[in-house]
Order: sequence, then C-alpha cells, then structure tokens
Amino acid sequence: MKPIKVGLLGIGTVGSGTFNVLSRNQEEITRRAGRGIEIVAVADLNTARATELTGGKVRVVADGNEIVNDPEIDIVIELIGGYGIAKELVLKAIANGKHVVTANKALLAAHGNEIFAAAQAKGVMVAFEAAVAGGIPIIKALREGLTANRIEWIAGIINGTTNFILSEMRDKGLDFDTVLKEAQKLGYAEADPTFDIEGVDAAHKATIMSAIAFGIPVQFAKAHVEGITKLQAVDIKYAEQLGYRIKLLGITKRTVVNGAEGIELRVHPTLIPAKRLIANVEGAMNAVLVHGDAIGATLYYGKGAGAEPTASAVIADLVDITRLATADPEHRVPHLAFQPNALTDIAI
Ligand code: HSE
Repeated sequence: MKPIKVGLLGIGTVGSGTFNVLSRNQEEITRRAGRGIEIVAVADLNTARATELTGGKVRVVADGNEIVNDPEIDIVIELIGGYGIAKELVLKAIANGKHVVTANKALLAAHGNEIFAAAQAKGVMVAFEAAVAGGIPIIKALREGLTANRIEWIAGIINGTTNFILSEMRDKGLDFDTVLKEAQKLGYAEADPTFDIEGVDAAHKATIMSAIAFGIPVQFAKAHVEGITKLQAVDIKYAEQLGYRIKLLGITKRTVVNGAEGIELRVHPTLIPAKRLIANVEGAMNAVLVHGDAIGATLYYGKGAGAEPTASAVIADLVDITRLATADPEHRVPHLAFQPNALTDIAI
C-alpha cells in the first residue's frame, strides 16, 4: 500500500522532534500503522532552517497554504501555535478534506468547537494528543482506556514551567524571576510566559480534558484561572512546615449547583499533603489523576514538554489517523469523542 502523505506546518522544537523520531523509528511505526507514514512537505518561514533540519529530504516551502492546498497530502500537522495563521490553515486543511494533527492547546481551547464542527461536517479527523501534557497519552487514556467509566474528576499538574518554578523555589530557595528565566532558557515556557505563570496554559489543557471527559463543548471562557505570580517563597516554606506542597493544579469535576448538574473547571495553586504521589512530582514533569467510577483513581506521569516527548504524542496521532483513514469508512469509529450529553455547561 502507498504511504500516507503528511505535510508539516512549522518545524521548530516539536516539528524537528517529530521529523527525527519518525525517521529513527520508521520501521516500527510503519508496522504499527499498517502502512508507511511519509512527511512530504514542510512549511516554515525560515526555509533555510527547515531545509537543514530535514536534511534536504523533503520539499520546503515558506507558505503553509501550499501544504493545505496540496492534493497529494492526506494529513496536515499544525505546529505553528497561536490563533491567527494556525487557525486559518487548520480550517483550510479541513475544508480541503485533510485530517489534522495539532499540538495547539490555545487554538483548541479557544476555537475547538468551530474546528471540530468543521471536521465532523467534512468527515475528517482532528487529533490533539500533544496538546495536553506533552508526551503523556492522556487524551487516549480518557477516550479509549477509560471509555467504560463515568469520569468523576480530573486533577493534574499540566504546566511544566510552573511546576519547575515551584520546585526550584522550594528546593533551592531561588526567587520567582530567576527560576522563570531558567525555565525559558530550558525551553519549557511558552513564547509568552504569562500564559504559563498566570495559569492560562494549564486552563487551556484542562478545558480540553474537560470536553473529552464529560462530553461537553470546549468552554475556556468559563474557567476560573489563577496562576502562581502571587506566591512568595515564604508561602512555600510555611506549606512545607505544615506538611504540604503547593502545586498549580488544573481541576475539572462533576458538581451539582442548586440541584442542577454541571462541571467545574478551574486552575489555581493548591495545597497537597506532602506524602501524596502528586505532591512529589518535581521539575518540569506533568502528572494527571483521573477518577472513573469503575476503575477508581488512576495516575499518568511523564514529560509534559520538549521536542521528542511531544513528538511521541504527535506521531501516536499520525498512526491513529493512518489506521482509521485506511479502514473501510463504513466501519470507522468517529474519532471525535464529543458525544453530547445532558451536561452541556460549566457550572462553576
Ligand atoms: N509551556 C508548556 C509547559 C509547554 O510549561 O508545560 C507544554 O505545553
């Protein structure tokens, strides 16, 4: 069978990681997908860098429109980030009948409903494992592994930058600004680090998990969002003395307000007893607790950022789409698990 053809929008950290892991593990990935997966074109404004990173093996263009309009391409990977051009190209790719893989949590949290509706209308798939908790397969866990469960709640450390800052402030007594600069140097922080430290990035990710877990539309605007900028070293020290650690958690759970069922969606610094597993997640690592009615509490831990951990999630989506796109369409399971149910709103 002919390989499935992929176009890549943006070849920065995650894009080059994706290219490298796909090349390195090509044989296993092909076997698991049941078919070859070939990146045939890359779009990046910095064409010289793109040519260098891909070793001159693929077509490099400066304009992403050339990829989303290319009839040869079956899957578009969007790794540009942000809302503007990324949204435009994703919607064009969908309109042109292409499946989309994206790591863009901000885009999905803000415009996911429009994007998923467009994909459903066109009969294409949008996959976004890399958008939440980097390499941890939390979307697949929610959608597949835990599919028998009624999810009760999710609570997670889903921003590596803030976890790194809190860990370093506690362990080394360093001040906030010094550690933030270090996180930026290490490549954990977003282009605009206020998204990390004000809790916005974690809220984007919690919003996406909430939609998957509870079958509700994406409702970022209703999230309560509080970051770590008001915390001082002394807060962390006092928490420690009382047997607690402070972690920035993204929380979403079922709730009842005035007799009506709804969903809570919130991000804020949280005191956690120091002996709990999640209290001991250090540095830029992520961890997500999910509670289902059948399985009870489960914990997912791993790298939430970085080139190859995030590439791992991007490629998992590529393999998924390749398998599903290759299957007889009559027997294809809808990829988007937004089965609407009675809980259509965020209550708190
Ligand atoms: N800025 C994000 C973080 C990157 O620190 O977790 C991964 O989404």
